[in-house]
Amino acid sequence: MTFVTLNNGAKMPIVGLGTWRSEPGQVTEAVKAAILAGYRHIDGAHVYENECEVGAGITAMINQGVVKREDLFIVSKLWCTHHEKQLVRGACERTLSDLKLDYVDLYLMHFPMGVKPGKELFPCDENGHVYPDNSNFLETWEAMEELVDAGLVKAIGISNFNHDQIEAILNKPGLKYKPANNQIECHPYLTQEKLINYCQSKGITVTAYSPLGSPTRPWAAPDEPSLLQEPKIKAIADKHGKTTAQVLIRFHMERNVVVIPKSINPERVKENFQVFDFKLSKEDMDTIFSFNRNWRAFMLEWASKHKDYPLNAEY
Ligand code: A2P
Repeated sequence: MTFVTLNNGAKMPIVGLGTWRSEPGQVTEAVKAAILAGYRHIDGAHVYENECEVGAGITAMINQGVVKREDLFIVSKLWCTHHEKQLVRGACERTLSDLKLDYVDLYLMHFPMGVKPGKELFPCDENGHVYPDNSNFLETWEAMEELVDAGLVKAIGISNFNHDQIEAILNKPGLKYKPANNQIECHPYLTQEKLINYCQSKGITVTAYSPLGSPTRPWAAPDEPSLLQEPKIKAIADKHGKTTAQVLIRFHMERNVVVIPKSINPERVKENFQVFDFKLSKEDMDTIFSFNRNWRAFMLEWASKHKDYPLNAEY
């Protein structure tokens, strides 16, 4: 097992199980399969609407003595409708109650954009654009800092933030805790060199989501590229006696980037963790980097009119 060290001193396992779009009826077994396979890091979020079932898998493994809580690294994310300062603690407590945990190891602001509070996760106008709230992410960050002091979370971080937005947090007067991690879309079609270099230069670790290119995202168009089908990446995999998915995962590990492939299939969950027994050469890495085309699986159209939409910046 390899770790990256966060700026609070904690060790974050470099491979975690992603749970976005993991069906509630299947994710408990996937979490159990992951922990049995050796995973110690599970990545979730309130908006995935499966935290109770993720928590059931974690609890089962702890109760069966397979792992101790302190050996796990559990990540969750504050949803956009809870950005107003007075809503942040309740949102975190709801996640802890769903997960049946006393704390999470890392709590991320899921997006830099606050959205109108209420029951709906994506309250949108007739054009599909979310209604913003009255918050700004610097105030939300202050409320998240209080979660650390209250012992509800060990570390706080961000997700889908661009470099200007990170800079705004780092330059915030009275900043108490720097972000420990920025979780962003990253894979060979979107290699994110500038943003990753920037984060790592500031002591902010990076997590890559959608490392396999999110092949089953609901909005995929038939003519869009498919990482798992790229012959040159398959050739690298064949050379190492590995699968294409394993090479796509290892690509991040070589950069000291945390990676969270999602699967609900126990065989693929295991496969995605068998990535510690080989290395990619400089030549392999150069070939993989050559696929970059700044292509995103997640354009976040629902938020494209929001004042803090993160994807218009260069990085
Ligand atoms: P499944 O859950 O049925 O295994 P990403 O992490 O980029 O979002 O990709 C997740 C998608 O890739 C899921 O649809 C998942 O399906 C599929 N997947 C996960 N692991 C593998 C693998 N090793 N080989 C092929 N597809 C995989």
